[in-house]
Amino acid sequence: MNSVYITRKIPENASDLLKRNGFRVEINKNDKNLSRQDLKDVFSQHHAIVTMMTDSIDEEIIKASSADLKIISNYAVGFDNIDILAAKRKGIVVTNTPAVAGESVAEHTFALILACSKKLIEADRFVRLGKYHQWDPLMFLSRQIWGQTIGIIGLGRIGTFVGNIAYHGFKMKILYHDISPAEDFEMLTQARRVSVGTLLKQSDIVTLHVPLTPATVHLIGTKELKLMKNTAILINTSRGPVIDEEALIWALHENEIAASGLDVYEKEPQVAADLKISSKVVLTPHIASATIETRESMAKIAAQNIIDVFEGKTPLGLVKVG
Ligand code: GLV
Repeated sequence: MNSVYITRKIPENASDLLKRNGFRVEINKNDKNLSRQDLKDVFSQHHAIVTMMTDSIDEEIIKASSADLKIISNYAVGFDNIDILAAKRKGIVVTNTPAVAGESVAEHTFALILACSKKLIEADRFVRLGKYHQWDPLMFLSRQIWGQTIGIIGLGRIGTFVGNIAYHGFKMKILYHDISPAEDFEMLTQARRVSVGTLLKQSDIVTLHVPLTPATVHLIGTKELKLMKNTAILINTSRGPVIDEEALIWALHENEIAASGLDVYEKEPQVAADLKISSKVVLTPHIASATIETRESMAKIAAQNIIDVFEGKTPLGLVKVG
């Protein structure tokens, strides 16, 4: 019987589907990530592994895998945690869970945009600390986001959902930067494709939706932050290293930008102390895709990817190499 190991608890529909299709399923029942040694052990013992984006699957772990390991099914849209070239060299298929997180991540992006622009966290704290003694016409004044300009860097599925919420929900003007033009999106939302520089200079809100690759590491650093408006808000729900975090801390301190909403961090799960003490940032623990709908869909796709590979079919989430 082919065996699947799942490195963290995920919605049960994944193991139900796998069992119904004749797999033996083992799950790490601890609420902790596996150590490197544990990863090596499970890679050496199973035919398929469902990994989390927090599992760093490098060449050493892949080399330790059994000759029978056919597929690494990553329970994430991103797959920057896996050495896909090393997997290819060993003939192991890598899959992700595409096309299911767009709505949730876009909603979370807007939660961060609204929280930053409305100073929601500060205002909540103010009330809880008993500071609300009288109504004040100038208290917590903010700019409305209705009609402002949003700059979307990376117009894949998630970026497109963000653009649709921005246009249909808030009548925002949209600038975007992507390697390919999106003519339908432009027609439907009057969006304009511009260079990163123009986008940074002209946007009131900048939001990042690129994958983490060598080309996107520190895409936003000191130079880029200096181009942004002093009143601008920077949102990151993609991957932490896309922003040079030290540069961001500097830019917030020097009022180069007004605020930042972050779901991801450069040295995740560590969060820089200067971010934690800043009242200009809103911080969440990498939960942008954490809706029941998305996580259950991801579980179904992660399981189906495995079933497809064992049935000799091309899985929906096949990560193409090269
Ligand atoms: C989450 O960040 C994912 O890649 O699914």
